[in-house]
Amino acid sequence: LGTRFRYCIPRKRALDTYRWGDILAVEWTIREVLNWTRGYFKNAGITQPRLEAEILLAHALDVERLHLYLSPDKPLTSQERSRYRTVVQERKSGVPLQHLVGEVCFFGLRFKVRREALIPRPETEELLERSLKLARRDRPTRCIDLGTGAGVIAVCLARFLPEAEVVAVDLSPDALRLARENAAANNVTERIAFAESDWFERVEGEFDLIVSNPPYVATEKLDSLAPEVRDHEPRVALDGGEGGLERIRTLIDQAPGRLRPGGAVLLEVGRGQARDVAEHLRSAGLGETRIEEDVAGVERFVIARCP
Ligand SMILES: C[S@@+](CC[C@H](N)C(=O)[O-])C[C@H]1O[C@@H](n2cnc3c(N)ncnc32)[C@H](O)[C@@H]1O
Repeated sequence: LGTRFRYCIPRKRALDTYRWGDILAVEWTIREVLNWTRGYFKNAGITQPRLEAEILLAHALDVERLHLYLSPDKPLTSQERSRYRTVVQERKSGVPLQHLVGEVCFFGLRFKVRREALIPRPETEELLERSLKLARRDRPTRCIDLGTGAGVIAVCLARFLPEAEVVAVDLSPDALRLARENAAANNVTERIAFAESDWFERVEGEFDLIVSNPPYVATEKLDSLAPEVRDHEPRVALDGGEGGLERIRTLIDQAPGRLRPGGAVLLEVGRGQARDVAEHLRSAGLGETRIEEDVAGVERFVIARCP
């Protein structure tokens, strides 16, 4: 009776009349806390408030999201409420969801994410898919991921191209540390050579596949990025220099002589940049180029094939 009575207390008031502090003061069930957080996040401008509430609650309770649906009437302990309260407050203050949860799923694999590297985006899964399609599976392939960040492209190339030799490059030693951790977590450490390098500068040899999602935000536009991106993701991963294309151009200028016959260069670029990048690839002599759209219809990928 005592327990049921305690459950009843919150139901005497409409959920949206509770203030934030009440979450710690009263015993709420999973269903109630999720309903409350949905409204709280919605008011804070979070675009998928219910989904984010579920992900954070599952994280705070250390369970799969499905568990929330299986036990909606389970009350949270005070420790669970306290853990949840902390992540909800951080999320509301603008910390990316992925940093709070500490990992993302990319192309079916799990990757740790931290402030040291860009949070992988869904468009980059499309870049990877195209890279895998162009790769030769019938013979050893040499691939390079330029600006590896958390290592998602390099790790997936190593996992899904069993014959491939993969090089992962980044200017940032912190990003490389994270990429190495992700390679170890996905059992491909032996298959990837990591290099701290300014694009190809400290890398030797030629490649069948050159893949990159380089920084492409114009320096002058960095301040107008969403605070969640601007204040929590590394500037070196975003800043493409004046106009946004400086870093990509340097990469392309270093590329001639690095592509084996029959090889391909695949680049992810920002909105409105694809045609300039394609032109730069052509004038650098990197073979036939084509532009492809992402699922949102944005010209996002530039691909050059060496004849
Ligand atoms: C947009 S992030 C991409 C990270 C990761 N590949 C992904 O798609 O999630 C760009 C990465 O390029 C790295 N970078 C920037 N300039 C570089 C340079 N000149 N040489 C090597 N890496 C560079 C940054 O540190 C960052 O990790």
